[in-house]
Amino acid sequence: MRKDTVVVAGGRPAHEHDAPVNPPVVLTSTYRGVGEVADTDRSYARQTNPTWEAFEEVLAALEESPCPALSYASGLAAITAALTLVPVGGTLVLPRHSYQGSMQLARAWEQRGIFSVRTVDVADIGATLDALDGADMLWIESPTNPMLEVADLPALLSGARQRGVLTCVDNTFATPLLQRPLTLGADLVVHSATKYIAGHSDVLMGAVLCATPELRERLHAQRTLEGAVPGPFEAWLALRGVRTLALRVERSMASAAELARRLSEHPAVAEVRYPGLPQDPGHERAAAQMAGGFGSVVSVVLDDDAAAAERLVAGLRVWTPATSLGGVESLVERRRRHPEEPASVPESLLRLSVGIENVEDLWEDLLPGLDALADR
Ligand SMILES: Cc1ncc(COP(=O)(O)O)c(C=O)c1O
Repeated sequence: MRKDTVVVAGGRPAHEHDAPVNPPVVLTSTYRGVGEVADTDRSYARQTNPTWEAFEEVLAALEESPCPALSYASGLAAITAALTLVPVGGTLVLPRHSYQGSMQLARAWEQRGIFSVRTVDVADIGATLDALDGADMLWIESPTNPMLEVADLPALLSGARQRGVLTCVDNTFATPLLQRPLTLGADLVVHSATKYIAGHSDVLMGAVLCATPELRERLHAQRTLEGAVPGPFEAWLALRGVRTLALRVERSMASAAELARRLSEHPAVAEVRYPGLPQDPGHERAAAQMAGGFGSVVSVVLDDDAAAAERLVAGLRVWTPATSLGGVESLVERRRRHPEEPASVPESLLRLSVGIENVEDLWEDLLPGLDALADR
């Protein structure tokens, strides 16, 4: 089945007479059973839940994983699980513009002496491969958050494999509809399902996908012990969101491409970072490795300071000023309002998460603030 059918047809109950069309929300903390517990048994709800299983099945089909996904309580819980595969005393290689939560977590563990961290410009193949010498895990975001740099996934994933370095790709921005890192050689994929997958800014959830049953088994055992599991209702909401993933991505991506083009021609804008623009440094690479589009996040650097950027955001009515991305509603945020965001992210950079509203309303909302900046 094609991916826009999988989002609708995956994770459904068996096709039997009288069966419900949708999986139920299974509210239970334990399962009936007597005698010794086998590996395959459902024994306690920290281990598994039928509602998660439906979500895990459809996500695995989308990512073309050989084994079901693993659900987590949030994207950061999924990231935490994947990072525990870096051995104590080992080395993690991380993009310098990673999602700031991943960066903060990695730095916190480095400070505790658990592992050391090397940061790289993940768009630079040579520098990234050089940084893998003696490393244990390569973490990749592509496009990166919020600079939208594009990594050469096939080159980095095969280079890491040759060096015996485990790889994990945070595929939140691209979604499995546009990019499937496991098919390009990644060992692990993580998602903040909070974003595009659930898609309505009403649930926190995460997922990990593994290239081998052995890796999945290891993370599954660890998830059961550590307990960072979602509630069944969260999994049901995320699955409900997945049903419209293809439509939402198609619509928001078309609007993002149009807004990126218009923004790049506005005199108040110093730079637009969006791999869909022909002049973007990541354009050719993204065109080669992303199927059918470039995503729905656009970063705009204004030709002005932080205060001017904040003024523009404060004047918007259709866009919601908020952190996060991937929902039906368009969100905008000056990323450097977070003190943790690195200084290499420009002070006046606005990250736009384009939603599914009419693109003309989104543009007309932005335009007066941009014109006012250009007139100053
Ligand atoms: C790329 C990326 N990965 C992971 C996360 C963390 O996900 P969550 O908020 O679901 O913990 C985020 C959140 O903004 C993100 O943007």
